[in-house]
Amino acid sequence: MKVVAMVGSLRRDSFNRRLAETVRDRYRDRLQMEFADLSVLPPFNQDEELNPPPVVQAFKAQVAAADAVFIFTPEYNWSVPGVLKNAIDWLSRGERVMVGKPVFIAGASTGMLGTIRAHLHLREILASPGVSARVMPPGGNEVLVNFAADKFAPSGPLVDPATLSFLDDVMERFIQFAASAQDARHTP
Ligand code: FNR
Repeated sequence: MKVVAMVGSLRRDSFNRRLAETVRDRYRDRLQMEFADLSVLPPFNQDEELNPPPVVQAFKAQVAAADAVFIFTPEYNWSVPGVLKNAIDWLSRGERVMVGKPVFIAGASTGMLGTIRAHLHLREILASPGVSARVMPPGGNEVLVNFAADKFAPSGPLVDPATLSFLDDVMERFIQFAASAQDARHTP
């Protein structure tokens, strides 16, 4: 499966970036993951939505060509970071490349709630008409890495055994979900 990863943090030593790299490396036999560079996207401007700048066109083409989108995001002030929302806004206008696209969501935070509030907002955003992505139902499929500082190797991958085992379960379900044509419903 060809997937594009979007990471909501631009931080050099980001836990979410390292979570994405963990997923890329752990499932490399089943996923070909490339990263989208959200840092080069200009702020969304509706004047340009039908003829966006070349970097946006390239980003939209990258997403359009993928079988699935993986989103790894921190929680900023109880929601998704602006850089991620900006990227999704570009994807939702003109050619709506997220419609029907299977999306895998995961998040890491240093706090106790592991990005759950950002996830809830993200699910609403992904269900909006311009986006209309396909997301697995929430019960049991939320990859939320709390207390991230305790669960990653220093400047390295996710190493917490229980979290990795849960990730394996969710990934198995996601791969089936993404491949399943009959499960084409949109979940809120
Ligand atoms: C945070 N952080 C944070 N954590 C959380 O659990 N809930 C929140 O609402 C916030 N809000 C927030 C706002 C801003 C502007 C920053 C910079 C940080 C802490 C956050 O979980 C922590 O910085 C993570 O390490 C960010 O993820 P990356 O950059 O490591 O991927």
